Amino acid sequence: MIMPDLRVLVITGAGISAESGIPTFRGKNGYWRNLDPAKLATPEAFEGNPSLVWEWYRERRRIIRAAHPNPAHEAITKLAQTCSDFLLVTQNVDNLHSRAQHGAATIPLEKIVQIHGDIFLTRCSRCDWHYYEAEQDGSELPLCRHCGTMMRPGVVWFGESLDPLQIARVETYLETRGCDVVFVIGTTALFGYIIDWSLRGAEGGGQLIEINPDSTSLSRFATRLVREPAGIALPDLVDEICKGVCSPGNCRPSL
Ligand code: OAD
Repeated sequence: MIMPDLRVLVITGAGISAESGIPTFRGKNGYWRNLDPAKLATPEAFEGNPSLVWEWYRERRRIIRAAHPNPAHEAITKLAQTCSDFLLVTQNVDNLHSRAQHGAATIPLEKIVQIHGDIFLTRCSRCDWHYYEAEQDGSELPLCRHCGTMMRPGVVWFGESLDPLQIARVETYLETRGCDVVFVIGTTALFGYIIDWSLRGAEGGGQLIEINPDSTSLSRFATRLVREPAGIALPDLVDEICKGVCSPGNCRPSL
């Protein structure tokens, strides 16, 4: 059943994929060989040691290929099918949102913004040449077949700008009208644009629901705090919405 006029924004971070076995960035399992991901995911790290950075990304690609979407990803797919208006903004570079099914359906690509890029994209550091390595990786340092420059993972690193086209997709959604519900799931919400989009999405009386076992900079703004793992909490919350308990006009904050 489609909920008419139910406008939903979902913002996710690494925590939603934690139950699929993908390490978060800042959690206790975040470190790789005693290296801090926040220091590896930088242009400086790539410049200093591209082999090491590629090794880390290839290992993450292997983990993601072997992983499966969890009940939280599947619940979001169900939500996308149920709401008349839906946008998912994910900071995750994994592909678990686009693989997650509800019935046979997945979230249409036009309803997903991967604001930090896509780990399976390999792109030239200089020109536009790029390709996908969804199935398997090579082991060499990849060089661009057009200009010979080193290729890099197609993700946004710390200190780099976001893709203006992806920003525009989020802005267009937010400018149309306020959301009835904004879910912020599994993110430490450290970036200003994540906080800004969450708050603007809920402007005008929408619910801001945070699902995260820990508190974040957004917690004090939430109308509802769910301190549980997303895979446990989200299926029931989405069912609540799909049954019309939380429809426009009767979304009651419950703290
Ligand atoms: P973080 O690793 O910073 O945070 C993960 C969040 O998920 C934490 O707040 C955890 O409390 C929460 N969490 C852990 N397990 C959870 C679960 N089962 N259910 C719900 N929440 C859970 O990841 P992000 O906030 O996504 O950017 O990090 C944002 C960005 O910083 C990443 O996209 C990446 C990173 O460095 C770039 O690379 C540019």
